[in-house]
Amino acid sequence: MHAEGRYLMTAFGTRAVLSELEATVEENLHRHLAAAEDWMPHEYVPWSQGQNFAGLGGEPWSAEQSRLSPATRAALELNLLTEDNLPSYHRELEHTFGHKGAWGTWVNRWTAEEARHASCIRDYLMVTRGVDPGALEHARMATMQAGFDSGYKPLLNVCAFVSFQELATRISHRNTGLYSDDPVAGRLLARIAMDENLHMVFYRNLVKAALEIAPSQTLRAITDEVVGFVMPGSVIPGFGRKAVQIANAGIYDLRIHHDDVIMPLVRHWQVFEIMGLDAEGERARQDLEAALETLNARATRFVEHRAQAKTERSPTQNG
Ligand SMILES: [Fe+2]
Ligand SMILES: [Fe+2]
Repeated sequence: MHAEGRYLMTAFGTRAVLSELEATVEENLHRHLAAAEDWMPHEYVPWSQGQNFAGLGGEPWSAEQSRLSPATRAALELNLLTEDNLPSYHRELEHTFGHKGAWGTWVNRWTAEEARHASCIRDYLMVTRGVDPGALEHARMATMQAGFDSGYKPLLNVCAFVSFQELATRISHRNTGLYSDDPVAGRLLARIAMDENLHMVFYRNLVKAALEIAPSQTLRAITDEVVGFVMPGSVIPGFGRKAVQIANAGIYDLRIHHDDVIMPLVRHWQVFEIMGLDAEGERARQDLEAALETLNARATRFVEHRAQAKTERSPTQNG
């Protein structure tokens, strides 16, 4: 089926799927509220390290003040700027999920939780002078003005995408903390990663329920989102260069994306065991199988090239 035909079919079913999933959303909203901890972001920031910048008579920022490695800096900047773009994500989710009932309650609750992430990462970076605050502010302005636009995907695609995306941010925050060599950053980013994990579980459960309601359509959505997955941070200035730095450091790379993000969800949804797919659903499953093989092969090639490049470089250029 060509793209237009598929979109029409999906668009036709969106309202039905929205109401079919309402009970699942409500159930998962209650589960989430019971599981989520009301943590205090100010308890995670080392305020005593903070000093005024030049505008209030203090020292201007300079690179040697940062104790973070270039790769850790790049990861924190990308993670923070991605979190900063929350108004766009809120707009997209509200457009798809609506603002009424359990769907609307979830959208607002999720937004309130996400808003903590950018504010406390920024506080940490400012008091520790971890990154150039002026460059960060320019990048924030450019990122938020660019916004994030997924083209208003159908509901099932949004659910599949955010499942992968929340898990990707969990892994990315957690690995950045581990790589940072700073226990304060490690504690903060592990805390944020726990939030991202609960968000992932919420969306993962929706997709699981959708697979029972509309298996073929949901499988097509999962496949399309695996094939076309793009980090929402791709609108950030210098994203490509920073993403390479982060991948070379092993904080987030194609191997991690395949092994720790895509495959755990594909296995959880048991997409290769589902019975009763129609012809379109079977085609989606075959496409998914092929896409996973391609991703796995690309991940293997990336890791080989990275290892080769490291042995060719002198030790002083490593890291
Ligand atoms: Fe977040
Ligand atoms: Fe999240």
